[in-house]
Amino acid sequence: MTEESSDDGSAADGSGTRSTDGSQTDEGVVRRDRFSGGPAREFLSSLEDDERIFGADLAVDRAHVVMLAEQGIVSEDNAGAILDALAEVEDAGHGNLPDGEDVHEAIETAVIERVGPEGGRMHTARSRNDEVAACIRYRLREDVLALLETVIEARKQLLATATEHTETIMPGYTHLQPAQPTTVAHWLCSYEAALARDTERLFDAYERINRSPLGAAAFAGTPFDVNRTRTAELLGFESLVENSMDASAARDFLVETTAAAATLATTLSGLAEDVVVFANRGFVELDDDYASTSSIMPQKKNPDTLELVRGRTGDATAGLEGLLTTLKGLPRAYNRDLQRAGSHAYEAIDAVAESVEVAVGAVTTAEWPADVLAEAASEGFATATGVADLLAQAGVPFRTAHEVVAHAAEQSEDPGFAELDAASEAVLGESLTAYVDREAVEEALDPAESVAMRDSRGGPAPETVTDHLERATATVDTDREAAEAKREALTEAGEQLHAEVETYV
Ligand code: ARG
Repeated sequence: MTEESSDDGSAADGSGTRSTDGSQTDEGVVRRDRFSGGPAREFLSSLEDDERIFGADLAVDRAHVVMLAEQGIVSEDNAGAILDALAEVEDAGHGNLPDGEDVHEAIETAVIERVGPEGGRMHTARSRNDEVAACIRYRLREDVLALLETVIEARKQLLATATEHTETIMPGYTHLQPAQPTTVAHWLCSYEAALARDTERLFDAYERINRSPLGAAAFAGTPFDVNRTRTAELLGFESLVENSMDASAARDFLVETTAAAATLATTLSGLAEDVVVFANRGFVELDDDYASTSSIMPQKKNPDTLELVRGRTGDATAGLEGLLTTLKGLPRAYNRDLQRAGSHAYEAIDAVAESVEVAVGAVTTAEWPADVLAEAASEGFATATGVADLLAQAGVPFRTAHEVVAHAAEQSEDPGFAELDAASEAVLGESLTAYVDREAVEEALDPAESVAMRDSRGGPAPETVTDHLERATATVDTDREAAEAKREALTEAGEQLHAEVETYV
């Protein structure tokens, strides 16, 4: 078998690749050194960035070696020696790896340093192409699961805080203009609901991350009798990315994960912006832990944490754009551009993971001054829609009712019964009391009553929100169980791999 380069074909065995000092021992090595020893060596290298997949690569190596031994492709003794060496490499840590173009090459070198040329059999029937794809999926699965756990916990906290505020009236806005009164709980639940969809998107992405490309080799399969489902099982992957060309090339799982992270960041940016505006109006008092002061203006308490949550959306969005740009137009099967893909996804995930905790921490530890909020809720004639609704319920066409109330709003900044009655005379030619009694109008003008009236499903009326809270809490529990099941599956796979490795070492 002639190799074009180390990855364009799989060596029949790894023997004689490179001696411990990296000197040339056969043609394969001559080529590897020849092509990556020049001034572009650092440019080619991903070794530093690969720290993130160091643990993943060790797991992938172990699963592969166990499978090779089971299939009789390498001897059990050889497998044992390689697996021993991998344990040493793990203990030494990523920072002590020998030089290499990437973590895969460096770990292989470190194994050969310990085992001798026989260590090179580790790379039988695979390529760095399927290897790196497996490593990214293995590691990303962990990252996404951790993010899922964070988001689910955050939702739980939002719902818990909402439970305390089903009757805390606050102004609601459209176009940042006072619109209709609502409650703090209703506002909190609106973000929890968005985070629930972000959770769904992350779960979805997880399903497609969790498939094994290993065994695809460079892209074109291998003549060795590999057992791909076995390595998938040992690594806890649910299924295979079957087509070997697709397996080494595909990075769409990164796109959907990064898109889910960017969408989550966008959700949080809205929440952050709301809190910044609320803080500006005195509607919320952030805990000191989530505020910052000015180096010159001693009186200042700024909502900086939320501004940074808002700002980090840029990191996540940049990750998505960077990733799509990197992937666009890449031909089959493997191209080195792909080495730049993973970091975009990590950038997005890291940016957003911290944002979730900070944003939700800020909101759930804050004080919501009920009196200030209630006062603000009655400003700007925010109960106008409720009066129009009342007239419409009494049989006046809604558009006409709207006209009556709009007329009153034109005449006065804060219309009461008298102004509304005059408007009714002007528009309908009759007193308001021909349709509704004065008491009902006065109730509709009261922000708390206005909220209580809006008890349509999903609306802000306290009992409606209480109902919603029950369903939302049940969904959080289901999601938490689903995440726990995934966590357990990973732990079990890890234990199984460990147990298999133990039988060789
Ligand atoms: N470090 C590379 C990556 O991250 C994997 C190496 C594949 N190299 C190659 N020449 N085919 O994608």
